[in-house]
Amino acid sequence: MATLTENGQVLDDELTKFVSWTARLVAAARALETDEPDAVFRDPLARVLAGPKATEYVDTLTRGFPEKSTSLILGLPPERPGGKRRVGGVIVRTQFFDTAILAATGGLKELYTWLPKSLSLEPIQQVVMLGAGLDARPWRLPLAAGIRWYEIDRQEVLRVKEKILQASGAPMRSADNEGASIPVRASEVIPIVTDFEQPGWPRALQDAGFDSKQPVLWHAEGLFNYLTADAVERVLTEASQACGPGSIFTATMLCDQALAVRQHTHHMQSMRDVSKSCWGAPTPPEKTKAFMKSCGWKVLELTEMNDAAPHVLPGREYNLPEHSVPGEEAWYYFMIAACESPDSIQ
Ligand SMILES: C[S@@+](CC[C@H](N)C(=O)[O-])C[C@H]1O[C@@H](n2cnc3c(N)ncnc32)[C@H](O)[C@@H]1O
Repeated sequence: MATLTENGQVLDDELTKFVSWTARLVAAARALETDEPDAVFRDPLARVLAGPKATEYVDTLTRGFPEKSTSLILGLPPERPGGKRRVGGVIVRTQFFDTAILAATGGLKELYTWLPKSLSLEPIQQVVMLGAGLDARPWRLPLAAGIRWYEIDRQEVLRVKEKILQASGAPMRSADNEGASIPVRASEVIPIVTDFEQPGWPRALQDAGFDSKQPVLWHAEGLFNYLTADAVERVLTEASQACGPGSIFTATMLCDQALAVRQHTHHMQSMRDVSKSCWGAPTPPEKTKAFMKSCGWKVLELTEMNDAAPHVLPGREYNLPEHSVPGEEAWYYFMIAACESPDSIQ
């Protein structure tokens, strides 16, 4: 199992910073799900991307780490005897955003019908994954043809990812799919090294062939709670200015109340040491909607994960932290927003 230090360093992994290593953790949760006979989804690259140490760490965590809130969305012990298998938050969020991404890019006709609004858009052909980490959707999802898929993250993460993908026979361009072990479903995956704490990342995107006049699906999953408030505001604002009508932003957002209450946990401390004050989505939801508006986005959906779970995975049981804190209305949002440009709101 990897050794984590108090100041956010990982001693025995190529991903030396805890903030990078979190990409291994969520990949490990997907790898463990993939192994289940009744898996919600199967991610053929998750295990190699996560590596053995993070997989062992998450496996141990899900088997019964004593402190409930520590495991956050990684999940809690699966309770099989006499009951259904339970799934953790990463699995719920993966499934929710798989559907949202497919709906926005034309791989699915509609978003969940339980949501009051749905995405009735022209299929979006450019996807930008902000803090893409070791996510393998371009090799896993049944994407519509012709999608350019940009993956932005820190240098050490993208370097390790490229190496693993190459060794696994997973190409970055569909033109190279012949004979590949795991063909890519996007037309091209383009990695872009960035630190979101620094300005100027849209420039790097444009240099890589991104078209800021066309609609874009921006997606930030598990990113914002590792950034400072300034960086989150800048990323959202710059994204809204760097895309054409019909653009969508989807994201997970850990709420400010949850951050405040759970900040004593080891995971949270490691996050905080890297990025001194992590951003939490303002609660109640109206405040997050107002914040998004100030950044150029109109929120279409803002769903609490615990409320979404039964709709996302009907018939399953969940291991999600309860609303156990007095006054805590929400702890983790799934957000879908449309660019405020009048043409882009359907
Ligand atoms: C929990 S992981 C989520 C990865 C991926 N979205 C997923 O769900 O599998 C958080 C990711 O955000 C990236 N990240 C955190 N802070 C960042 C920053 N300042 N600049 C660029 N990427 C950052 C990390 O390197 C890591 O890959």
